[in-house]
Amino acid sequence: MSKQAILKLDEKEFEFPVIEGVEDEKAVDFRTLRSRTGYISYDEGYGNTGSCQSEITFVDGEQGILRYRGVPIEQLAESSDFLETSYMILYGNLPTREKLDQFRARIHDNAAVSPLMSEALKGMPKDSPPMGVLGCLLSAMSCYNPDLATNDRACDLENFDESAAAAIAQTATAAALSYRISIGLAGNQPDPSLSFADNFLHLMFSEEGKPYEPVAEVSRALDLMLLLHADHEQNCSTSTVRMVASGGANLFASVGAGSNALWGPAHGGANMAVIKMLEEIRESGDDGSRFIEQAKSGKSGKRLMGFGHRVYKSFDPRAKIIGKACDDLLNKMGIDDPCLDIARNLEKAALADDYFIARNLYPNVDFYSGIVLRALGIPVDMFTVMFAIGRMPGWVANWREIAMNPKGKINRPRQIYQGPAQRDYVPVEDRT
Ligand code: CMC
Repeated sequence: MSKQAILKLDEKEFEFPVIEGVEDEKAVDFRTLRSRTGYISYDEGYGNTGSCQSEITFVDGEQGILRYRGVPIEQLAESSDFLETSYMILYGNLPTREKLDQFRARIHDNAAVSPLMSEALKGMPKDSPPMGVLGCLLSAMSCYNPDLATNDRACDLENFDESAAAAIAQTATAAALSYRISIGLAGNQPDPSLSFADNFLHLMFSEEGKPYEPVAEVSRALDLMLLLHADHEQNCSTSTVRMVASGGANLFASVGAGSNALWGPAHGGANMAVIKMLEEIRESGDDGSRFIEQAKSGKSGKRLMGFGHRVYKSFDPRAKIIGKACDDLLNKMGIDDPCLDIARNLEKAALADDYFIARNLYPNVDFYSGIVLRALGIPVDMFTVMFAIGRMPGWVANWREIAMNPKGKINRPRQIYQGPAQRDYVPVEDRT
């Protein structure tokens, strides 16, 4: 007989089935809890709630394991690239050479944003926050590509190959275009002869008569940064994508919502916040030790940005990979970034500090990704957009998983109401 969990409530016992994942994760299946007991489970922040069964990404936070479709992140970082990994995240398996070539061609074919969309971009204030622009553009892709975004599941799935490629490719194009418009420059056209990373850098930095010249270390570092962000299980933005998708919304509407969810400093905004923190520390003449004390006190409202993770409680494997890539990149490019020294000091001090040890706080992927991005010449206020470009395959794959499940339910959590008990309406003239 399969395992059961027993819950005793008001002197009555209820049995609930246990679900086991392929990596031995275990969940008590409470889907019938309310209908059978009248109770709901309360789990603010969803730290103990499995919202779905997914086949995309596996994270073991205790052991610092991350695998996309079963393949360890370390192997992908060593041997794959962003587009090949994206294909696997979207479709489940590593592509054959032929399929990979087709996928790369489809990405290039879908890279140009519609001229109408470029015009709409020009109408936005020049100093708009890049994440605000990206959220609008992703949602607006439903308007500019109505055939790909019908909210009719069967039709949207039929067009999935095109819409997935458009979401991945045009996020990068639109991000670069909005940057150029913000500094008063015209946009560049995508170049199909370049890799994904080099094409992005060309879109950002090529000038009339002075095309961007690819540098192997630079393109590898950017590609790696994107690959490390490509998916991460049920995080805040991906859960948002699934939430929106569960109501039947099309791919662009769903990933637009995910992009907005990524914006905050506790999530994708952390990479910007890390650089701002490191700069502040540098400007104040601190070597990091004063800041650590402030972050520990809890009174300053400061946190050690780029540290801590809801799931990783030993180390974040992405941080190990990007920390090393950051050292290599700066060495190869001969960049001496004082922020890297401060980051190393902070890391060393925090890893030896009882406060951080007791709370299992370790550097996360964002601790070093900002330094990498800055070395590549990406403006700080675009860092979270870079995270969004990287995370797009994960959002798209999660949208597809929802869309392909014919028995899927709309996501609709419950709450415990703690507001006023029932009371009567009082006419305005009688109110005190
Ligand atoms: N600096 C100082 N104290 C911290 C930090 C930090 N970065 N993170 C958590 N704590 C403390 C927190 O004050 C609390 O202490 P106490 O138990 O005394 O009240 C304890 O650790 C647990 O914190 P929490 O906020 O309940 O933990 P959480 O799992 O809800 O939050 C987190 C996870 C990532 C939001 C949080 O660690 C954080 O704010 N980190 C800084 C922001 C950051 O780097 N975010 C990027 C995450 S990785 C990229 C991504 O996937 O989004």
